[in-house]
Amino acid sequence: MSTPPRQKRFTPADITALKGVRPIVSLTAYTTPVARILDRHCDLLLVGDSLGMVLYGMETTVGVTMDMMVAHGQATMRGATRACVIVDLPFGSYQESKEQAFRNAVRLMKETGCDGVKLEGGAEMAETVEFLVSRGVPVFGHIGLMPQQVNTSGGYRSKGHSEDEQDKIRRDAKAIDDAGAFAMVIEGTVEPLAREITTTVKAATIGIGASPACDGQILVSDDMLGLFNEFKPRFVKHYSELADVIDKAAEGYAAEVKERIFPGPEHTFQIRPKK
Ligand code: KIV
Repeated sequence: MSTPPRQKRFTPADITALKGVRPIVSLTAYTTPVARILDRHCDLLLVGDSLGMVLYGMETTVGVTMDMMVAHGQATMRGATRACVIVDLPFGSYQESKEQAFRNAVRLMKETGCDGVKLEGGAEMAETVEFLVSRGVPVFGHIGLMPQQVNTSGGYRSKGHSEDEQDKIRRDAKAIDDAGAFAMVIEGTVEPLAREITTTVKAATIGIGASPACDGQILVSDDMLGLFNEFKPRFVKHYSELADVIDKAAEGYAAEVKERIFPGPEHTFQIRPKK
């Protein structure tokens, strides 16, 4: 008897190949049960360092560690069989040198089984991107608003409003495209520039707050699900209000415990009658 063929997982090259064919669907994922659900609908799942904020309550992504990314990368890989899974290199794990970036990228790939890594940065990271790609590490770039640089870039404000800023982002896109990134996130960037970059680079552009002109879209899943409500950037759309669903469920549970309605007889063990 032959074994049934395993379902094919999207590779980074498959993601690039979707450019100009149809919009690429992407969300973040951090845990096995959620990855299992999102996997059915997404071409790419990103284990984003946004997990520091949405799962751990950190104020920024700066405090996220390699160990956190490894643990959540492993959890996500256990739930995803179909989507291409990319894990973020956290702040401080790749900016020091291309060798440091390679070491940590290889750790993420070996310990999680993911399909590639994401790193933030443009022209200043191009040499690193080239170093990784030429040694077998698929790289997902990230330009425009870069949350790991929040402390030096003046906060979470959208980019590309001045000509200087547009020139810089344009150069960033070209640099990481030439370096071999298979795709790049364009975050919080004005539409005309995101459109121009999308038409000029070989890599697939995945927008978050960068207009429908991009080759695909990504959202932080906890934002999209209405689970993370600390703040709501303009580019986020809630497709559910899970925070309210959880609140109501907890309220119902608390009331039933207090009134001794839960657990009921169907949830309770009795001594089995002797045979
Ligand atoms: O960390 C993250 O989730 C990201 C996405 C917002 C693209 O970088």
